[in-house]
Amino acid sequence: SYMQNVALLGFGTVGASVARILDERISDVNLTSILVRAGKEHVDPRATSNFDAILSDSALDTVVECMGGLSPAYEYIKAALIAKKNVVTSNKAVVSAHFEEFMTLAAEAGVNLKIEACVCGGIPWIAGIQKVRRIDEISAFWGIMNGTTNYIVYSMLKDGTDFAEVLSKAQELGYAERDPSSDIDGIDVRSKTMISASIAFDVICTNQIPMSGIRNLTKRDLAMFGSHDMTIKLFGRGVSNGSSYAVVVEPVAVPLSAIEAHVPTNFNVATVVGDTIGELKFYGQGAGGNPTANAVVQDIIDCADAPIEGQQNFSANLLYNPELFVSDYVFRTQADIPGGSFWEPGAQLVKNLSAEKARELLTSALTQDPTTFMAALEKRN
Ligand code: HSE
Repeated sequence: SYMQNVALLGFGTVGASVARILDERISDVNLTSILVRAGKEHVDPRATSNFDAILSDSALDTVVECMGGLSPAYEYIKAALIAKKNVVTSNKAVVSAHFEEFMTLAAEAGVNLKIEACVCGGIPWIAGIQKVRRIDEISAFWGIMNGTTNYIVYSMLKDGTDFAEVLSKAQELGYAERDPSSDIDGIDVRSKTMISASIAFDVICTNQIPMSGIRNLTKRDLAMFGSHDMTIKLFGRGVSNGSSYAVVVEPVAVPLSAIEAHVPTNFNVATVVGDTIGELKFYGQGAGGNPTANAVVQDIIDCADAPIEGQQNFSANLLYNPELFVSDYVFRTQADIPGGSFWEPGAQLVKNLSAEKARELLTSALTQDPTTFMAALEKRN
């Protein structure tokens, strides 16, 4: 391979770890510049606040975007692809919103667009799905894809810590998004689930999908589900039957016998199901500077060593059919839930609801009782 010239956009938790790993461990990558906000140029001798100067360097091979957020990340990625630079990004928000457009630009320019770090941090999940798909059709995927919320639930159970206290600890540890509502309301998982669906099913997935989070989860809720030998995990899920597909983001009550119930701290576990491989699980750290930067650096190395692989295509004509997800749901609420029957004091059970219908019931329950918490009961086999 050749000496690859790389520019890094963003020097936060992930960006700083990317720079350190490149400098200390990767001898055939030359990190030439680091884009920082004006006034922050002192962070590194390579720091600059001038994106246009970075892009006009004709020796530059690859732009690595670790800024997060939609703008200016969107404009910078577009400009880099049009200028025929490889793009590696950890920014799931911008990729989930513009995946098809970015892939089209990358294909036109004949450069790589690499997104491994967008989903499940250091876990080679995107590469794993792509490899499964060389042989198999994928019928389903699901996972704990958010380190912050897993860390919150884990600490509430293990140490009895209150939600708010453990959230600020997750921020200190560099797991949480700048606006932590992205984590606790499921927005971060939604981006990761949309990207996973595109990779698994060849679909353009929009964000019009059922989504709920764990903002209202209490220690008493965890005790209630615990008394049924279940715990709560925030899941992103996708399913396809070959002609239609659906995706959902919601808290799921998983039996303690499930592997998912035992995932600690900021770890993620994501599962894909293919017709010959069966059920395949990927486990590792889904948040934090070093694990996420590890995935970024793997992608950078691949830009030099690997030929440009088949670009993601979005051409499968799968219909979006939310009825593919039907579960029993528990609502812990003072609100009246249509069709609800007694489950536990203060909690009602509704059987056989589509994820979309459940989300509608949650929305209306929240207007009556803003502390309402809802979880799907995982089907036991
Ligand atoms: N805030 C995210 C998480 C970071 O907690 O999983 C990794 O995407």
